[in-house]
This record gives sequence, structure tokens and C-alpha cells, in this order.
Amino acid sequence: MKTLLLSLTLSALSLSGSLALAQAPDQADEIIRGRYQAVLTDCAACHTAPGGKPLSGGLPLHTPFGDLVPPNITPDKETGIGDWTKEEFRSALKQGVGHGGKRLYPAMPYPAYTKMSDMDVDNLWSYIRTVEPVHNAVEANQLPFPFNIRTAMLGWNMLNFTPGDFKPDPGKSEQWNRGAYIVQGAGHCGTCHTPKNLTGADKDGVALQGASLQGWYAPNITSNNHIGIGAWSDDEIVQYLKTGQNSHSIASGPMREAVQESTSMMTDGDLKAIAVYLKSVDGGPDDKPKAVAADDAHMKAGALIYHDTCSACHGLEGKGASQLFPALAGSPLVQQPSAETLTHLVLYGSQGATTPAARTTPAMPSLGWRLNDQQVANVLTYIRNSWGNAAAAVAPADVKDKR
Ligand code: HEC
Ligand code: HEC
Ligand code: HEC
Repeated sequence: MKTLLLSLTLSALSLSGSLALAQAPDQADEIIRGRYQAVLTDCAACHTAPGGKPLSGGLPLHTPFGDLVPPNITPDKETGIGDWTKEEFRSALKQGVGHGGKRLYPAMPYPAYTKMSDMDVDNLWSYIRTVEPVHNAVEANQLPFPFNIRTAMLGWNMLNFTPGDFKPDPGKSEQWNRGAYIVQGAGHCGTCHTPKNLTGADKDGVALQGASLQGWYAPNITSNNHIGIGAWSDDEIVQYLKTGQNSHSIASGPMREAVQESTSMMTDGDLKAIAVYLKSVDGGPDDKPKAVAADDAHMKAGALIYHDTCSACHGLEGKGASQLFPALAGSPLVQQPSAETLTHLVLYGSQGATTPAARTTPAMPSLGWRLNDQQVANVLTYIRNSWGNAAAAVAPADVKDKR
């Protein structure tokens, strides 16, 4: 009854806007805090389609098991979550169990959101109740048999899911704990950056050490000095998350979206906390692999292509031009174990993020039409093994897979 009253008041609130806000200061605060939770959690990344109404349903996620479509979570009663209770919403986020006991698939990142406090989730609920209700029926489960059987998630959860709030480490600073809370919980950075096991669950022992996702590679973002961001200062990490670029790297693809929709709107205090936490995460051995020799035939062919096609922007020595063309020399992104992100950039090009702090963004042209698979592989092998860089050679077959 209380919830019903609250939701009635809140829908009245959204209708009459600022007048109602002024009349219900407590709820207004809750909604404002909930709006910030929506920034931290970036529900829209999945639940809003490009050009679509906020939270009314997203683009299909291609999982190794089949397609799942993020459903409509606007307050529409028929096709959204308008008839859910606050408790059901909390259970969906923190237990992976929705309305009527429906077991959700972990493509919905409840294994991360489970770490959120009840208060943060409840504030988010208050905010989501104020979003415009949209009538849009979405069939979430498009998985083939047997993956379409939801009760299978009981077994998955038993194997892979530890429900429960974030437990602060009393031996660490408040700032570190805030960073850990965001990265592991609300910000669900590991959903993209943590390697997965065969059932698609995070491998906690190697958290944030890099993973493939939908044709991109979300790189190692630990303290590792070779392939992680151990060499970036806290301020450089903050700058990247706030503006989508710093003197080391420029965010593209899924990270560009994450910066635009989420991290660029986080408070400076929260960004700093994230930086402090990331720099403390162990990222495995720092040793470099042996670089492919400069007189290797693929390296020599790659060098010629680099000089012709890339050096005008990235520089003959791979140093780039700060804030305009990212440096390739010493870049952790360039030296990841997987070259998927690099391949994607060369084949299809990319545009940096547009954020309030950096409104104009440089673009990388697509070069897939000019270079064949062997040439792309050679030039990538070259940038991964020049100027002090060292990483595995790239094979033409890996490039072919991405076309
Ligand atoms: C990485 C993508 C992703 C993100 C981020 C995400 N979701 Fe989801 N969500 C999904 C998918 C996919 C489903 C469908 C799962 C299923 O059907 O089992 C889903 C299902 C749900 C459901 C169940 C709806 C229903 O009709 O049963 C709710 C509620 C929900 N999400 C809320 C949220 C909220 C709130 C956030 C932000 C805190 C969020 N989601 C963030 C992908 C995402
Ligand atoms: C939807 C997937 C996704 C999510 C969520 C995500 N990232 Fe990323 N991230 C990527 C991808 C892909 C890249 C590589 C793209 C690029 O560098 O242009 C990347 C790049 C980065 C980089 C740059 C690393 C480098 O060496 O250039 C940092 C730092 C980073 N992410 C931090 C974070 C943090 C912190 C969070 C959580 C608040 C987060 N990411 C959430 C996908 C994601
Ligand atoms: C016209 C200028 C231009 C040319 C030519 C160009 N690039 Fe880029 N490149 C950029 C810009 C701008 C970015 C940043 C855009 C982004 O990441 O979304 C970028 C990003 C990259 C990155 C990601 C670096 C990071 O840390 O974010 C790699 C790797 C890369 N380019 C490799 C190449 C290679 C290899 C070639 C030649 C085959 C090439 N580029 C040609 C402008 C160029």
C-alpha cells in the first residue's frame, strides 16, 4: 500500500514537474540521487536503443549462447515495469529474479549490481518511476533451446553468483572503498573488462585484465605496467573517463559510449576514487613478451604500410600528437594479447567521444577498403612490435573474422 501511494505520488510528480518537486522535498531528493545512480549504472547503455525513447528497450546483445534483447523498463504498465513493486525491482538488480519470480539471464549485470546498497537501488527506482512510460513490447529471450530455459539460471547462479552488498575493506581508505564500490558494483566495469569462463561468468581471479566483447577488446585496466594503466597517473585516468581522451589514449567503440553516457557525468570525486582503486588492482606479471624482430618479413611489409598510411597522423615514431592523434608507442591498448580493438579501428575507423569537457573529437578514417587482410595484419604486427612495444603477431585470419 505504501509503495502504491509512493508510486502514485511519484507519477503525479513527473506530470506536474517542478511544482510537485517543490511540494515533496524528500522525494525530490530521492529522485535527484536516483538520477545520479542512473549515471553510475548506465542502464541506458543496454536498455535504450540508439534514437529510441529512454529505457524503452535496447538493441539485441549477441552472447555466445544467442541473442538477448534488453527489455522495456519504463513505467509503462503493460510492456514496461509499471506494475512492479520496489521489492521486485531490488530483487531484479540484486538477485537476478524479476516480477513473478522470473529468473533473469546474467547478460543483465545483476552479478555486479548485487553489490549496490539497498538505498542506492531504491533511489534509482524512484528516478526510473519518473521516466516517460513508453508502450513497446520487447521479447527479451531470443535464445535457442536449451539456453532459452530460464530455470537453467538456477544452476548458473549456484556456480557463479555470490549475491550480497559490497563489503568495505576497513584496512583501505574511504576513497579506495568508494572506487571499489563503483567499479565492482554500480559501474559494472568488469562486465566488459573482466575475462569470462565458459559459462560467461566473470573470472574473479583475473578481474579487469581484459576481455573480448562483440568484436572489440576491452583492455586490461589494472596496475599492470605493460598492458594495464599502471603508468597512467590518477589525473590522467580521471581525464580519460571525464573527457574520453588523455595523452595516452582516446576512447572508441563501447568505451566511447560508456564515457559519453556515464563516466563523463560522474563527479570528480568519484572519478578520482575509481582511479585510486584501479591503480591498486593486481594485473598479473608485468614482463613483456619477446618482440617480433624488426627484420621479420611481416614487420618489414608492415613498416612500409605504416609509413604510407598511418604515419601522417600517428607520427613516424608512433608518438602521435597529444589530444589529437593517440600515441601508439608505449600504448597499453596497442599491446593487448588480443588485437580485436585495433583491427576494428583500422577496418572501420572511429570517432572519439563528445563530452561537455571536450566537444570536438578527432576521427580515425576507415582503411578496410584500402588494405587487404594480410596488409592489415602486417601493419598491426608492426605497431605492436616497434618503438619498444612488444605483443603477439596478428594473423590475416584474425582480420578476416572481423570483416
Ligand atoms: C549490459 C547490458 C545491461 C545493462 C547495463 C542493464 N541491463 Fe537490465 N537487462 C539486460 C538484459 C539483456 C535483460 C533481459 C534479461 C532476461 O530476459 O533474462 C535485462 C533485464 C532487466 C530487467 C527485467 C525486466 C523484465 O521485464 O523482466 C530489469 C528490471 C532491468 N533489466 C533493469 C535494469 C536497470 C535498472 C539497469 C541499470 C541499473 C540495467 N537493467 C542495466 C541488460 C542490461
Ligand atoms: C560496454 C563495455 C565497457 C564498459 C561497461 C566499460 N568499458 Fe572501459 N573500455 C571498453 C573498451 C572496448 C575499451 C577499448 C576502447 C578504446 O580504448 O578505444 C575500453 C577502454 C578503457 C580504458 C582505456 C584503456 C587503454 O589502455 O586505452 C579505460 C581506462 C577504461 N576502459 C576504464 C573503464 C572503467 C573505469 C569502466 C567502469 C566505470 C569501464 N571502462 C567500463 C569497454 C567498456
Ligand atoms: C587521419 C588520421 C589518422 C590516420 C591516417 C590513422 N589514424 Fe589511427 N587514429 C586516429 C585518431 C584521430 C584516433 C583516435 C580516434 C578513436 O580512438 O576513436 C586513432 C586511433 C588509433 C588507435 C587507437 C589508439 C588509442 O589508444 O586509442 C590505433 C591503434 C590506430 N589509430 C592505429 C592506426 C593505424 C595502424 C593506422 C594506419 C593503418 C592509422 N591508425 C591511421 C587518426 C588516424
